[in-house]
Amino acid sequence: MKILVTGGAGYIGSHTSVELLNKGYEIIVVDNLSNSKVEVLDRIRELTNRDFKFYRINLLNRGELDRVFKENKIDGVIHFAGLKAVGESVEKPLEYYHNNITGTLVLCDLMKEYGVKRLVFSSSATVYGNPERVPISEDFPLNTTNPYGSTKLMIERILEDLYISDREWGISLLRYFNPIGAHQSGRIGEDPNGIPNNLMPFITQVALGKLKRLSIFGNDYNTHDGTGVRDYIHVVDLAQGHLKALDKILEKPTLDIYNLGTGEGYSVLDMVVNFEKATGKKVDYTIVDRRPGDIDICYADPSKAERELGWKARRDIQDMCRDAWRWQINNPNGYE
Ligand code: NAD
Ligand code: WQD
Repeated sequence: MKILVTGGAGYIGSHTSVELLNKGYEIIVVDNLSNSKVEVLDRIRELTNRDFKFYRINLLNRGELDRVFKENKIDGVIHFAGLKAVGESVEKPLEYYHNNITGTLVLCDLMKEYGVKRLVFSSSATVYGNPERVPISEDFPLNTTNPYGSTKLMIERILEDLYISDREWGISLLRYFNPIGAHQSGRIGEDPNGIPNNLMPFITQVALGKLKRLSIFGNDYNTHDGTGVRDYIHVVDLAQGHLKALDKILEKPTLDIYNLGTGEGYSVLDMVVNFEKATGKKVDYTIVDRRPGDIDICYADPSKAERELGWKARRDIQDMCRDAWRWQINNPNGYE
């Protein structure tokens, strides 16, 4: 079985590639390396002892992507490629809409042309906006608050329409909560450019001494300690969820939507305490103003994925902290 992995050099794509290769799939990675490094590909080969083809291609380039479909008999696609920084999407909306939406349209058009009708798509819990209550189940109302989130919601709608037009498609929309952690080897992990936007890479860089202290964005939220609560999920659990979703759509046509989260919420202060406990490293912090657009609390009801896919997140918050830290100390400058 040959799976095309778009964005396979990225954080979640690289971990999923490892799981696919370990399960015996052949993979083809397409990535333009706009937010990743070529070195990750050798790490994937090293961890799995398997080789695969890599195309450095922008999805927006139809001609080049066509070559990938021409040269390979592809059975299914896992589509990670996209831009993902919320703040940047507010500054550069056209770039985000163009890259994420046009990239997906070009990909789907070629899939249709070549009769490859199996697609797993990286959506996000961001499509729930500010939820009325928690835990969040898949039937909650959808509403986005920034261009990045809107690209995810629009792509979900496009893929739903595609399925309605031709019920031979098998499409799985996976709404990720907050992926953190790294492969337990410490060889692959999250490698943000510049100062991290997300909590866990910020914490690991403070613990390493690269950043002075964590700024906690507000302690007056409606949560147990006033700091924001999220559903952090180990990236390897998340990667394994993709294999389950893929198996199901390879079996028969369908349109599926699943939350991939743990169902547990941790506050920013809980994360600091858990990180310190898991690693023995101190994380200095200071409380600052809220970050615009942040919500109080967000965690999943992941029971649909368990019921229908037989998937459940297994790694706990200590595993997530330990693995994130192992990756950070072994690779203080990421893949450089
Ligand atoms: P990432 O930036 O590490 O990986 C995305 C990869 O796609 C990068 O390697 C980048 O170079 C590539 N890419 C981007 N645009 C491309 C294009 N036009 N052509 C070819 N390659 C392109 O991000 P990630 O954290 O691994 O996220 C993967 C997917 O999951 C993204 O779609 C993201 O929006 C989604 N997602 C991520 C999170 C998260 O917190 N990390 C949460 C929910 C959803
Ligand atoms: C987590 C918590 C912050 C950094 C984002 C996207 C979302 C999804 C995942 C893609 C919040 C607090 C953070 C810091 C802090 N991505 N925080 N100091 O905002 O839940 O989700 O990534 O789909 O769409 O919005 O994740 O890691 O940025 O923040 O206090 O330096 O940590 O306020 O409560 P978020 P995050």
